[in-house]
Amino acid sequence: MDIHAEKILILDFGSQTTQLIARRVREAQVYCEIHPFNIGMAKIRKFGAKGIILSGGPACVLDKGAPVCDLEVLHLGVPVLGICYGMQLMTHLLGGEVERAAKREYGKAQLLIDSSEDLFHGLDGASGGQGEQVWMSHGDKIKIPPPGFTAIAHSGNSPVAAMRHTATELYGVQFHPEVVHTPNGAKMLQNFLSRSCGCKPVWTMKSFVASTVEGLRQTIGSKKVVCALSGGVDSSVVAVLLHEAVGHQSTCIFVNNGLLRQGEAEEVQRIFRDSFEINLDYIDATDSFLSRLEGVADPEQKRKIIGNRFIEIFEAEANKIPGAEFLAQGTLYPDVIESVSFKGPSATIKTHHNVGGLPEVMNLELIEPLRELFKDEVRKVGGELGLPHRLINRHPFPGPGLAIRILGEVTPERLEILRQADTIVMEAMERSGLHDQVWQAFAVLLPVRTVGVMGDERTYDQVIAIRVVESVDAMTADWAKVPYEVLGQMSNRIINEVKGVNRVVYDISSKPPSTIEWE
Ligand code: XMP
Repeated sequence: MDIHAEKILILDFGSQTTQLIARRVREAQVYCEIHPFNIGMAKIRKFGAKGIILSGGPACVLDKGAPVCDLEVLHLGVPVLGICYGMQLMTHLLGGEVERAAKREYGKAQLLIDSSEDLFHGLDGASGGQGEQVWMSHGDKIKIPPPGFTAIAHSGNSPVAAMRHTATELYGVQFHPEVVHTPNGAKMLQNFLSRSCGCKPVWTMKSFVASTVEGLRQTIGSKKVVCALSGGVDSSVVAVLLHEAVGHQSTCIFVNNGLLRQGEAEEVQRIFRDSFEINLDYIDATDSFLSRLEGVADPEQKRKIIGNRFIEIFEAEANKIPGAEFLAQGTLYPDVIESVSFKGPSATIKTHHNVGGLPEVMNLELIEPLRELFKDEVRKVGGELGLPHRLINRHPFPGPGLAIRILGEVTPERLEILRQADTIVMEAMERSGLHDQVWQAFAVLLPVRTVGVMGDERTYDQVIAIRVVESVDAMTADWAKVPYEVLGQMSNRIINEVKGVNRVVYDISSKPPSTIEWE
């Protein structure tokens, strides 16, 4: 079965929520890709979509230089759904009238459905009831729909909150069906996919595994492949996919840089070598990393030292594997989307040295089996492959590890303190059931000492900061409102059990302007 046979093209006009549209489409088990609005007709035709979605965007179609796709997109005979700016553009291109609104409409609105035949099929609000809650975020609105279009829903503020062409499959919605504040938005998108585009739900992670394993077998043939295993979910999934595909023709290289969390190196070996019987090359390079980090306090310098050393070690190990021709890497879809809105400035504020520099220095062909997947899809693939829940749901962990959570110099003593505190934080997150609800939780060791009392003694010890954040993509993040009892347990245990710490603080900053990590 070709899992890409039925696909949707999303043209991006710069909305913050374009990725969410793609995720909702994937959740409806239909493959889709995001491309910039101006990729050109030749590429659009070649893509062969069964339906096209025009995303929202910050511009106003009435402005000079506003992003515009080819009019032909609307005449391909393929169903098109315009969302917010996409709807306004459709209106503008097809001869309707867009009105510059005096005031921006932002927030929840009630959508009153006038026709429940297609997009709104099966929705409660369709029977003249209370209407559907939807999320609006727009300045302009439709004054007169283009010829041949009728309104299929309205709201207090928008007489044409949704429209369709009476004879062809062209739709527009003023609100955002892709966000959670439109509770039935996923159903609306699903109606578009199944009823208008006729897409069958063939994009499942089970079928992804089958087709990827087959694809890897074809690509690798009888050659050898190496994979940099970090113990994070992405590289773990790659490791198991490779093993399923070519067994011991694949070798995973796991470098212990001495900056891992407690028990991590042992756990990785247990899971991959012992349970999955994967060819695992474990290198304990703790001393070589720590000696290079001696006396270094600058965050960017730490990252560079760790990144470069990793590449040197990995390269030397990979060279010991005769006949290795491929390097497998866990690149995900959000890293490769070539788009208007995703490469915000925050992407480059910190140099992210992971295995990032590897492909450039190594003479190996790159294989990226997860290139098409969002993180939630990778986790599902991990589940299909039988990886443990704990590993699949691990929080992101930076390549430079605990080094960027120890502010100032990294020493074995300070690593030990942070490891113990970090373990306590993670245990409390898991026990309280909060672990899987947040993006990341961790401890940070600060470079200051504060005064305390213990018994009759004055202490002058170190400070641990606890950081827990909620986020969907790490580009922005909010500090998590962790219950006081849970914070209290963390604090008590850290101060009582971790020698050298006499104070714990909770980080209540959001990103931006702060970042998630402290360095
Ligand atoms: P910041 O601190 O930039 O973090 O808000 C965003 C996300 O990226 C992770 N992060 C890193 N990951 N190498 C990595 O592989 C790095 O140098 C690095 N710095 C930050 C961070 O944990 C968060 O998930």
